[in-house]
Amino acid sequence: RHILVIHGPNLNLLGQREPHIYGSQTLDDINQHLRHVAADLGGTCSTYQSNSEGALVDRIHQARHEQIDYIVINAGAYTHTSVAIRDALAGVAIPFIEVHLSNVHQRETFRHHSYLSDLAKGVIVGLGAYGYEAALRYAMA
Ligand code: DQA
Repeated sequence: RHILVIHGPNLNLLGQREPHIYGSQTLDDINQHLRHVAADLGGTCSTYQSNSEGALVDRIHQARHEQIDYIVINAGAYTHTSVAIRDALAGVAIPFIEVHLSNVHQRETFRHHSYLSDLAKGVIVGLGAYGYEAALRYAMA
């Protein structure tokens, strides 16, 4: 199986950005680990990060032509604002899992609403980088 992991805005700063909230691993550390996990399970994992909403929409569209079985997405702050990313995920009709490193429900109320959750197969929050791995393992099964 082929899984696409998408990281939204500011996640390129992982490891430096508010490590008490988001952990000390860099995005490269996380992506490398996910590729190893996917390979161990006999599949592949592509990763993508952008700070730009339109680029994220384009990447989701592109997945339609790539035999992607599942998307794992942490849309960062766009989770709480982006009808466009919601529509892109609905449009390509590839099943997806929503991941957040932090427990968004413990935080500001503006982080409690997601434009993606009701379309997602599942949502993982608050487990740090392990949330991506758990989502990937589910998607690979
Ligand atoms: C986040 C939570 C969002 O509210 C925030 O804007 C992020 C990261 C998380 O992984 O915990 O950028 O998606």
